Amino acid sequence: MCGIVGYAGTAPANGTSTAAGHQALDVLMEGLRRLEYRGYDSAGVAVVANGEIAMRKKAGKLANLTAELAASPLPDSMTGIGHTRWATHGGPTDKNAHPHVVDDGRLAVIHNGIIENYAPLKAELVYQGHTFISDTDTEVAAVLLGEIYRSLPADESADGARLTRAMQLASQRLEGAFTLLAAHAAHPGTVVASRRNSPLVVGLGDGENFLGSDVSGFIDYTRRAVELGQDQVVTITAATVAITDFRGEPAEGREYLVDWDAAAAEKDGFPSFMEKEIHDQPEAVAQTLLGRSDIDGKLTLDEMRIDADVLKTVNKIIVLACGTSAYAGQVAKYAIEHWCRIPTEVELSHEFRYRDPIVDDKTLIVSLSQSGETMDTLMAVRYAREQGAKTVAICNTNGSTIPRESDAVLYTHAGPEIAVASTKAFLAQITAAYLLGLYLAQLRGNLFQGQIKDVLADLAKVPAKIAQVLENDQQIKDLARSMADTSSVLFLGRHVGFPVAMEGALKLKELAYIHAEGFAAGELKHGPIALIEEGQPVIVVVPSPRGRDSLHSKVVSNIQEVRARGAKTIVIAEEGDESVRAHAEHVFYIPETTTLLAPLLATVPLQIFACELAMAKGYDVDQPRNLAKSVTVE
Ligand code: F6R
Repeated sequence: MCGIVGYAGTAPANGTSTAAGHQALDVLMEGLRRLEYRGYDSAGVAVVANGEIAMRKKAGKLANLTAELAASPLPDSMTGIGHTRWATHGGPTDKNAHPHVVDDGRLAVIHNGIIENYAPLKAELVYQGHTFISDTDTEVAAVLLGEIYRSLPADESADGARLTRAMQLASQRLEGAFTLLAAHAAHPGTVVASRRNSPLVVGLGDGENFLGSDVSGFIDYTRRAVELGQDQVVTITAATVAITDFRGEPAEGREYLVDWDAAAAEKDGFPSFMEKEIHDQPEAVAQTLLGRSDIDGKLTLDEMRIDADVLKTVNKIIVLACGTSAYAGQVAKYAIEHWCRIPTEVELSHEFRYRDPIVDDKTLIVSLSQSGETMDTLMAVRYAREQGAKTVAICNTNGSTIPRESDAVLYTHAGPEIAVASTKAFLAQITAAYLLGLYLAQLRGNLFQGQIKDVLADLAKVPAKIAQVLENDQQIKDLARSMADTSSVLFLGRHVGFPVAMEGALKLKELAYIHAEGFAAGELKHGPIALIEEGQPVIVVVPSPRGRDSLHSKVVSNIQEVRARGAKTIVIAEEGDESVRAHAEHVFYIPETTTLLAPLLATVPLQIFACELAMAKGYDVDQPRNLAKSVTVE
């Protein structure tokens, strides 16, 4: 939710570029371009130039701001802040776009998150005589910051100690989730930022420093990053990065090197990030498997701060996640219970906290989050920790908040996922969750080492099989294009095929704005079959006939049931499964694998189907309407 970028470079030597080679505006716009997936309701930038704040902002996608800047250019500058918005308080209008400029036009502020106590603060500020232009909670924070700034003694120091102090004091008064960035006309080389429950990363350059909601905000310029802790304020200039807590006590961040570069975040010749990321999947699974086991199949995790003895006493696992990540969790449940014999629940993070869940020190919480910043999941993990549970994060974003606040971490190495709807992270999450299941089974002695080795060997073959599905994508693409006028699609699956069906339906809703539902095939006769009428498309994920026979034949019966009532049946089945042909209008074959690994293959045609159908309808598959990549508000 909302992308934030900040820049402090070295003073221009010749009036056209900074000594570090960058104009603030170029850095900000490049950062916003990369962060636009976080929100695209409006965008804005402010730079400090000639002792003033110069600002442009525009409702709509970044392209609107680019046009505005072309029509009305900003002056050269070495310092600035930029924002791309996902609206929470106040509609997506020019007026509500960030930055918000206060203090007689001298202070510019941008914000990500929700300030929960904005109403009483606003009342207090209105009472003091302040007026407000926008409907946002951000403007309240900006006015408060300006008010505190003015109350402090004047400060001529270049590093803007007065602005830093004002930010510390203002942050103490704010409740909720916020990343705030501020630039002031009186401090031309300084950007000050603050964070609570909302992401912020520092980028370390040579004669320049950066701030970003995540590293993609500055990846074109540096791969050296510093992750900030909770409730910290950071002040950057071209030469310095100073971190404190909200009281002003010096604090430290953790420096790390980003293990991907700008090229990895580009489209690699694909027309969209979505298509690129679907094609990244063999690599995403392969990278997630890499280096996790030795020659005997013995597994290790990235960061394990839980004693083996504690893990041996775990008597319940709760998987916490939202959306696509929750479907990955539902797939993983089948494997974890099968391999570890530990009761495993999968719960939507936002439901978990509010139902008084039974959690204690024998509960293992496994959170799944691509971004590592999903507020619902973060809050659920925090709640579980408070109840004494141990927490393992499966996450795709190094240095993000959820892994930082967890007892153990297993990173998915899918690389940056830019398209708003998740694809490669889903497959990488299933892979990582399987590794965790095998790790627990190894530790607790539920499986023999040889059995673990066999599963790992099957997993190792998956990337090549995904590549095979991708190579044979024309048939599914043609079908998708022929269905551009469809208004509703149902998806059916059983066992691990059930969450795959739900994920297929979610992709179609998100990308093509088509009504779609995923059902457990066995549930059909308990109600949903009433939806079937002549021509209703039904996509069925069929398990391998080589697995438990009853499962396969039951699903084939389900296909027959809907077909008998007029459904148009589209089937995803295993290569060689001829039994489905008689009951399906279209059959798409995926390579053979074990039942538990089949979701890593069966999901891929469903992603291609949704993506292609959305493109046939002329939609932007990278930035579907109303969505944002990283949901950092509850
Ligand atoms: C759907 C999608 C979302 C996310 C969900 C959780 O395509 O991307 O449903 O899966 O918002 O996000 P993370 O995994 O970042 O916690």
